Amino acid sequence: MALITKSVRGTHDVLPTESHEWRYLERTALETAESFGYYEIRTPVFEHTELFERSVGDTTDVVQKEMYTFFDKGGRSVTLRPEGTAGAARSCLEHGLLAEALPQKVSYITKCYRYEKPQAGRMREFSQFGVECFGAAGFAADAELVSLVVQYFAQIGLEQYHIELNTIGCPECRQNYLTALRTYFAEQATVLCATCQERLKRNPMRILDCKSHVCAEIAAKSPVVIDYLCDACAAHFDGVKQMLDAVEVPYIVNPRVVRGLDYYTRTVFELVSDVPELQGLVLGGGGRYDGLIEELGGQHVPSLGFGLGIDRMLMQLRALRTPLPEQTKCELFVANMGDAALLRAAQIAAEVRADGWSAQYDIVGRSLKAQMKYADKLGVRFLVVLGDEELRGNQVRLKNMQTGGEELLPLDCFAEEFERVMLRLAQEELEASFGL
Ligand code: HAM
Repeated sequence: MALITKSVRGTHDVLPTESHEWRYLERTALETAESFGYYEIRTPVFEHTELFERSVGDTTDVVQKEMYTFFDKGGRSVTLRPEGTAGAARSCLEHGLLAEALPQKVSYITKCYRYEKPQAGRMREFSQFGVECFGAAGFAADAELVSLVVQYFAQIGLEQYHIELNTIGCPECRQNYLTALRTYFAEQATVLCATCQERLKRNPMRILDCKSHVCAEIAAKSPVVIDYLCDACAAHFDGVKQMLDAVEVPYIVNPRVVRGLDYYTRTVFELVSDVPELQGLVLGGGGRYDGLIEELGGQHVPSLGFGLGIDRMLMQLRALRTPLPEQTKCELFVANMGDAALLRAAQIAAEVRADGWSAQYDIVGRSLKAQMKYADKLGVRFLVVLGDEELRGNQVRLKNMQTGGEELLPLDCFAEEFERVMLRLAQEELEASFGL
């Protein structure tokens, strides 16, 4: 049968054979964030378009070319979120969280949407793990943020990456930098792409992340912001570096990292893959955005955060064959023959599940041979075969599918006895892991 349609270009499915890997990365992300005091926030998948125009910036590639924007039936312009920061900031502001004790720390796992040209590691729907810390002006917060990423990568065994660190100054010192950029690009304005010619007038910094080869080549030789910092921004950057040195987080200062979103001020950083076949893939990035809350109508609340691409992290882990937890297997399969055995199988499975173990029984009326084959395919840990004889004798043989070992369990208190077996095994495994 022909499919009526395939998945939309730039989107992908996560199948049951791999969803446990996603769950593991997401759960570990939120737990690591929580160990730093970040608690999960969930915001809507779409927001008023204006939110992204004001925060991400209307001269960025994201806003100009990549947003999924549409009018709803009420005629309002709404946009599927292209990133997580704007929604988190809007939500914290709207619900008065920024009027409470600061810093206010939030984390999230979200789907994001950008109409980009799909290629390896670049999708139109992708997932981000992000954190945002509102109300922390000092450099210690910047260093702690980078440490959180390092801690998370260590936790999931993600290796072979490096951290690129830079500062892009504050709105005051950036004026001198923008003047220098304008002068530089103005000399070559005619060869810039049409979008960048417009950016030259409105925000020349955005020319630095243009994907056109010609613009990128010209941008590669442009002045760097680090040469135009005011004393306060330079001191802040020194503080960040000192603090990272003190906690032994290695980084490379790359004055060309400016990030592609408008809200950043001072510290910016990116996590870059060193895996040769991934060719410098950016696994994540973030930085400080001291002016964003004011831009959205709030008070001055210096803030910062990062976003990591979960799809890209998984690509890196798979490229390096990093061991990830396996899908949990069914703990008990109750093969059954005959109507009475089917009813008893359903009861046993329900009792075992109520104790917190996973259990299945044959629900499609297969032959015993086919049931055994199916259980084998599932990789179940234990198997019992229930027929008239077992029901009459009130006993069933529990087979350990890994060792082949068997033991007889009474049917009338099967769940209790099964639990005893499982706990005994867990104890033995624990002792073995400690070499006892
Ligand atoms: P971003 O650099 O635009 O920053 O995105 C963060 C990460 O999301 C990227 O480094 C990449 O791993 C992943 N990503 C971005 N676009 C795609 C795509 N099309 N396909 C797959 N993965 C992608 C932000 O979004 C900021 N909100 C980060 C932040 C939070 N800064 C402060 N707080």
